[in-house]
Amino acid sequence: MITITGATGSLNRATVDHLLQSVDPSELAVVVRDPSRVDDLARRGVDVRAGDYADPRGLRAAFEGADRLLLVSSNDQNADAAALHRGAVRSARDAGVGHVLYTSHQGADAASPFTPARDHAATEHALAASGLPWTALRNGFYAHTLEWLLGPWRKTGAVSVPADGPVSWTSRDDLAEAAARLLQGEVLPLGPVTLTATAAPRFADLARWAGEAAGRDIALDVIDEEEWTQRAIAAGRPEGAVRFTLGIFQAARGGFFAGTDPALRDVLGREPVTARSIVESMVRA
Ligand SMILES: NC(=O)c1ccc[n+]([C@@H]2O[C@H](COP(=O)([O-])OP(=O)(O)OC[C@H]3O[C@@H](n4cnc5c(N)ncnc54)[C@H](OP(=O)(O)O)[C@@H]3O)[C@@H](O)[C@H]2O)c1
Repeated sequence: MITITGATGSLNRATVDHLLQSVDPSELAVVVRDPSRVDDLARRGVDVRAGDYADPRGLRAAFEGADRLLLVSSNDQNADAAALHRGAVRSARDAGVGHVLYTSHQGADAASPFTPARDHAATEHALAASGLPWTALRNGFYAHTLEWLLGPWRKTGAVSVPADGPVSWTSRDDLAEAAARLLQGEVLPLGPVTLTATAAPRFADLARWAGEAAGRDIALDVIDEEEWTQRAIAAGRPEGAVRFTLGIFQAARGGFFAGTDPALRDVLGREPVTARSIVESMVRA
């Protein structure tokens, strides 16, 4: 049985959809906080179970029978994500899961200025200490996030961001497809696997590509972090989310998202979608 959490979210719902192209629904279970949100999967014959990382005992029951378990990382910026993940790993161990895969992040590092990166590092540590076979899918940064990070450049003629660094912006759907392929593989890689697109552009590149696609010059305007924060808040973004996002620029400057790896291309058996093509399709949308 392949068991997947987070099937109400974008990444793992897409992973389930990819899996259903080649796996019989009776071989799949999803563990979600609100089963009513995946009625369609239940109707197709997927085993839908209730489970919340905040309830390790219930989770243990929900993980029973899992040969391979894909654990999504929490999306709750106000939760102690590392503690939730540690509980989920314990539940997996207690349920006798065969192999745990976890949606980690490329920059997973206890020293990163980006909060989730520290949570991912702590979770990988818990997986390593669990005694279970495990794989951390160190996913590249979701490239669709660029729609808001590039800001109102269409109006202003400039991409205004804090000082940045290279980031291997990656298509979330490529990551979902890769997870589905890995889950069906004969042998799973052990430990961290870095899944990224094959280039790590900077905002100067992204601004240039946006300009070329739009047929006009788009400047890069490097602004102070506080000014960027205030502009994003004034544009209607919640302050907590804006300050959280600043960590992306800080970690990028520190080189935490700079690496690229051929593993995603190898797993997909094709070139991953590029950040450039994602920017171009945003411009043309
Ligand atoms: N690589 C990147 O650039 C990047 C960017 C953003 C986020 N992420 C991480 O990748 C994860 C997956 O991305 P996504 O786009 O699918 O995010 P998403 O659409 O926000 O989905 C997150 C999923 O996690 C589930 N979840 C959260 N807390 C949970 C809990 N306590 N117990 C059980 N399930 C819980 C959510 O369930 P509900 O539907 O019940 O809330 C949802 O299904 C995110 O959660 C985040 O940790 C990565």
